[in-house]
Formats: sequence, structure tokens, C-alpha cells
Amino acid sequence: MTEEKVQLYRGLREVYIDRTTSSFIDGDIGKLLYRGYNIDDLAVKSTFEETAYLVMYGELPTREQLAAFDSELKASRGLPGEILDVIKLTRNSHPMDVLRTAISALSAYDADTEDNSTEATLRKGVRLTAQAPTIVAAHARIRDGNDPVDPDPSVNHATNFLQMLNGEAPDPQDAALIDKDFVLHAEHGINASAFGARVAASTIADLHCAITTGVAVLKGPSHGGAAEEVMKMAQEIGSEENAEKYVRDRLDGGGRIMGFGHRVYKAIDPRSVHLQEDAKALGERKGEPGWFGILQNVIEVMEPYRRRGIYQNVDFFSGTIYYLLGIPDDLFISIFAMGRVPGWTAQVVEQFENNILLRPRLQYTGEMDRTYVPIEERS
Ligand code: CMC
Repeated sequence: MTEEKVQLYRGLREVYIDRTTSSFIDGDIGKLLYRGYNIDDLAVKSTFEETAYLVMYGELPTREQLAAFDSELKASRGLPGEILDVIKLTRNSHPMDVLRTAISALSAYDADTEDNSTEATLRKGVRLTAQAPTIVAAHARIRDGNDPVDPDPSVNHATNFLQMLNGEAPDPQDAALIDKDFVLHAEHGINASAFGARVAASTIADLHCAITTGVAVLKGPSHGGAAEEVMKMAQEIGSEENAEKYVRDRLDGGGRIMGFGHRVYKAIDPRSVHLQEDAKALGERKGEPGWFGILQNVIEVMEPYRRRGIYQNVDFFSGTIYYLLGIPDDLFISIFAMGRVPGWTAQVVEQFENNILLRPRLQYTGEMDRTYVPIEERS
């Protein structure tokens, strides 16, 4: 058969699908801006609450705006009892599947679910930002046979998450690392999960549909799942001396090194720079510097790949940080998701405000005009 002549953009590589003011990535020099502000400034000077406001509303908040936003987040952290029942029913699923299911189920308890106005979408985005950590922490406790810990309105977002997870107030330095990690994950252009969220929004489905889609898409190891894989790799490597052989064997076998490579960054991912420093300091503080040493050696072995634009990405060090904070491996992606709810929300608002159905084409390469044969005549 003759194939119709079309221009194919497999993987939508380098395809721009719309305009945005949410974030800017210069992949050639490793630069990331949220609403025009450099991630390097936000990582060290901002907080997750302030950054979430910036990403969702487009401007840094005044003191009063931040206080009101923070109160709204704190007041929204609780979950209806029925959602805790959903979490109990799905306790044996992967934490990302539980998060996706609980966010989807929350649509039944949100007065604004079907309202796609900008105001209502932002209100829902605030609530889902507040509720995501409660879902993840409640599930982690329930599956271990423990009761969920109630959210604490007297502490910030990151502290509250660790407190709900572990049942005790965290070391403030640990909470500060999670806060920074949330800042670094808040928004990131039209990555696969944001694209998924936008596709849902483009059909004029609501924010719960879009964020449920975002969580589903984030789960894969090519996207948010890489952090978990990096820590597994570090454990398999086991010692600094073994890193070189492990990496070479994996690459020679046609495998990939998780936490390396990016569709957009062909230079160092600026988020990984902050996490690298944090992972080093945390390893020393916790008396376990070995993990950082192993990962550092992996980077050295991967040096030749830099010529091809393959550098470590955000997931390379985040997993080590979570591990050193005592967080179970299968919760790593959920932490990424918790940080990303503001970014998904901002992009859904953008999609709604200038909507166009996201509906590309596929080139058909199968057979044409085949004759239908009744089942009794088929051999
Ligand atoms: N290790 C070894 N080789 C790699 C890697 C890697 N991690 N990543 C890309 N390559 C090679 C790949 O083999 C290919 O080589 P060739 O041209 O010889 O076939 C070339 O680089 C291009 O790879 P690609 O898959 O076409 O590039 P992509 O832009 O589609 O892939 C990626 C991006 C993130 C899926 C990929 O780099 C990868 O699989 N990385 C490992 C998983 C990972 O760390 N994911 C987290 C991404 S950052 C956080 C996030 O956004 O979620």
C-alpha cells in the first residue's frame, strides 16, 4: 500500500503546542524560570507556599496575600472520611495509584468540581495542593497498620507532610529540604504530565480530571518514576568502587542510567544542582555519605555522555534525599506529584483561558479495504 505523505512529529519532539507564561526552560544553558523568576533564587529565598502562589496566580504575593493563601491551604488539608475509606480499600496499590484514585474521588466532595472558571479552578488547585500530602501520608500509615495523623494547622506545608507521615515533628532541617524540593518541582513546562493535564482540560473536563491525568502520567519511570529507580540503582551498586563497572555494564547491555537525560535540557538540569548540594550535606549530617559518593562516581563515569547533551536531571539526587530522610522508595514519585499540583493547575487555567481541543493525528499504516469474512469461513 502507499502511505499518505505527512510530516510526522514522533514524540512531539520540539513541537510547540501553545504559549505560556507559567515557566520558561532554556535547555541549552540549563535555565528555569517560574513566571519569570529564576529557580536559583526561588530555591534558596522562597518557600513552597510562596512559590505555589506565584505559579498559580502569576505574581509573588504581598505579605497579606501570602497569609491568606497559607490559611486557605491549612484549612483545606483535611480529607472527608469517605476518602480515607477509599485509601483503605486501595491500600495495596502503589502510592501513586492511591493518590490518583483519591484525587479522582475528591471530585465527589468539592462544591466547585464542575465549575471551570479561573477562580473556581484556582480554588480547587489550592485544595488539591493541600490535600495531596494528606492522602500520601494517610496511605503510607494505613498500609503499615497505623492510624492516619491529622494535619497540623500550626506548621507549614512541608513540616506538616513529614509530621503526618512519621507521627512526630520533623527536624526543621529535614522539613526545609522537603520545602525546597517542593519548590523545585512546582512547575516545568509542557512535560508529559502537564501535557496530559492539558489534554483533559482541552476537552473542557474539570481540574479533578486534569490532575488525575497528570498523576497517572507522572508515574512512569521515564518521568517522575526515575527518582525511585536511581535509589534502587545506588543500592545495587552498593559501593563507590563498584559504580564504574555497574554503569558500563548497564550501558553496554543497552540499558539507561536513570536520572540522566532530558527531552529539553541538553545541559545540566538547574534543579539537580540544588539537590546535589543538599544530598551531599544531608548524607554527611545523617552519617551516610556513601550514597552521595556512589552517585558522584556515576556522574564521573557518565561524563562522556555530556557531549551528547546527557546530564543528570532533577531525579538523580532527589531519591537520595528522600531515602536519607527515611521516606520509603515507593513514595518518591508522590512527593514529586505533591510539588507539581500548582504547576498543573496553572497550566489548566491557561488552557481554559484560551482553549483549543488538543487532538493531533496518527498516520495510518495498516491494510486498506479488506473483505469481511464471516467467522465460520475463517481458517
Ligand atoms: N542513559 C543512557 N542513555 C540515554 C539516557 C540515559 N538515561 N537518556 C537518553 N539516552 C540516550 C538514548 O539511548 C538515545 O541514544 P541513541 O540516539 O543512540 O538511541 C539518546 O540518548 C536520546 O534518547 P531519547 O530516549 O530519544 O531521548 P528523549 O528525549 O526521548 O528521552 C528521557 C528523555 C528522560 C526519557 C531519557 O533521557 C531517559 O529515559 N532518561 C532516564 C529516565 C529519567 O531519568 N527520567 C527523568 C526525566 S527528568 C524528570 C521528569 O521530567 O520527570
